[in-house]
Amino acid sequence: MIQITIDDHPYEVPEKITVLQATRLAGIDVPTLCDHPSLKPYGGCRLCVVEVEGMRTLQASCTLPVYNGIVVYTNTPKVHKARDFVLTLLFSERNHFCPFCQKSGGDCDLQNAAYGEDMTHWPIQPNWKPYPLDTSHPYILIDHNRCILCRRCVRACGELVGNFTLSIENRGANCLLVADNGVPFGESSCVRCGTCLQICPTGALINRQSAYLGLESNAEHVESICLGCSVGCGVDLVIRDNHLLRIDGNWNAPVNGGILCEKGRFLPIQEKRQRIRTPLMRKNGKLQPVSWSEALELVAARFAPLKGQNSGGIAALASTRLTAEALFAFKDLFANHLQSDMVTSVEENKTFDPRLNGEPRATSLEALKQADCVVVVGANLEESHQVAGFFIKRNLVGNTRLVVINPDPKVMANQANFSVQPKPGSDAILLQGIMGGISQLGLDRRENPEQPVVTIERAGQESEVSVESIAALSRVIGGARKVVIVAGKGVTGQNDDSTSRALTELAAQIGAQAVMTMKGNANSFIAALYELDQAFNPQGRMAAYLALGDDYPSRRLEQRISGIPFLVVQASYVSALTEKADVVLPVSIWAEEGGHYMNLDGRLQTARQALEAPDGVWTNLTVLQTLAGQLGAPTRATWKEALYQGLPVAETA
Ligand code: FES
Repeated sequence: MIQITIDDHPYEVPEKITVLQATRLAGIDVPTLCDHPSLKPYGGCRLCVVEVEGMRTLQASCTLPVYNGIVVYTNTPKVHKARDFVLTLLFSERNHFCPFCQKSGGDCDLQNAAYGEDMTHWPIQPNWKPYPLDTSHPYILIDHNRCILCRRCVRACGELVGNFTLSIENRGANCLLVADNGVPFGESSCVRCGTCLQICPTGALINRQSAYLGLESNAEHVESICLGCSVGCGVDLVIRDNHLLRIDGNWNAPVNGGILCEKGRFLPIQEKRQRIRTPLMRKNGKLQPVSWSEALELVAARFAPLKGQNSGGIAALASTRLTAEALFAFKDLFANHLQSDMVTSVEENKTFDPRLNGEPRATSLEALKQADCVVVVGANLEESHQVAGFFIKRNLVGNTRLVVINPDPKVMANQANFSVQPKPGSDAILLQGIMGGISQLGLDRRENPEQPVVTIERAGQESEVSVESIAALSRVIGGARKVVIVAGKGVTGQNDDSTSRALTELAAQIGAQAVMTMKGNANSFIAALYELDQAFNPQGRMAAYLALGDDYPSRRLEQRISGIPFLVVQASYVSALTEKADVVLPVSIWAEEGGHYMNLDGRLQTARQALEAPDGVWTNLTVLQTLAGQLGAPTRATWKEALYQGLPVAETA
């Protein structure tokens, strides 16, 4: 800690922070525009200037490091004059006629800074030149007239997402934000994560989904987590009148630090499926609305005689988007109370081992952010688990090397430093060949190195990858100090676990920082811990219960349940499955119920209820508990104890 003075008050602050950060720790407001806590200091706009004793000129506080004994003034006539001047220039550069902007009234950092300086007008004639609008993007409209060229969007696209789509072209008054080499934004390499949109301090980047629907001050904010995949990003749900206006990334969330992907930020807002608002029961061949008690009584009456029967009993399947509480109630009801041996989840894949690296997993995403070599096997992080892909991509401009092992040459092709396409089914032998190469190079880091079982030559022959490529991979992977191995569906979906075992052995050989499984839905990990991961085979059963929640049913599932004499579907939306059901139980969607989820890192997180469900719609947990009560099963609130058996996890409130 060091001693500093701000505005005549002494403060003790940590070393290696900026003067701006010190003022924030001291609770002193210094206006900023180009600065953002998630970006590297930039020093572009000069709004944050302060006086520093002993320095001849005003200093940008966002780039000036503190030092012991520094004396700073944030509130002098000279400072205010400089701020006024910066704001005057900014307002006169383009069309900033605030009443026409959706951010006017509290959401615009530029307008707020002007009010903060008591500005009532700007004395310089504004530039009347019209700048273009870019309306080509499905989610984001660019109004260049409102742009202050702070480059927060440009820096976020590069520093946080690693996409480098945005930049600034030209000089002076002709400066313009451009995508790629000046193509329309919607036709550019943009991956639609929306980080630029969220970080824009003015109304230059406009959210097409929530524009003019309400200012921050009119909206409620609920901190929760995204259920789009198993990364478990922290989100800020922006609500008005029980309506989800938009989803922002939570800058303080430990998992994602604010960034989201299209699936997490934009797609949930444009949900078009038809909600089910009342229980339905098939009568005379048609689904008819009924009361909850009538629907549940029928289900209980049909299920009770099937208790303990296996081949002719009940098959039950749950979505891995359900909360931990609901998954436990589901398992407890069907496996423990009704004693069915066909109780599983959509994960239905035994080889998914949440303990792939055998260690507590709460650091593997952090390790991914720090890795100098990432080996991605059987995963495509451009399509799913994108935020984890951004963590890799943003480091590729530095020293991080990306190795992609996938039969499809198009997978992550633009990002990979090394990409090999083994013959399908030969991943394990290729990995063993790489281990052989690492041994030959003397890079085996185990205390007692084992002799390689597969040579590079044999691996080359069997995987159809050239010997030179395998040797190169051995050098890169074996030579790196902080390797993270990422396994996707291509590994976990295999019928045998030889590739998983080869990856674990490779990780041990090189002392990898982490082995991560990129797979599944928000609660796939918990489903695996509850052993809801066997293959779903309902054939021969007299009844099936599908706890889908708001998930999309697959075509395969649809085919597999055909011919079941009595089908119950617990779902939020109408689907081909609900159309086939004998009883449909309407349940809340993700934002309408709270509960716990464990991400692929093993981090237990809380999803919070943000919206009220429509009248007559129950939560997934309530439905399962009420049905259990109807069947005489005791309600046991032990989901957490069942979860923690033998597995240490980190927890985020
Ligand atoms: Fe410091 Fe822009 S906030 S220069």
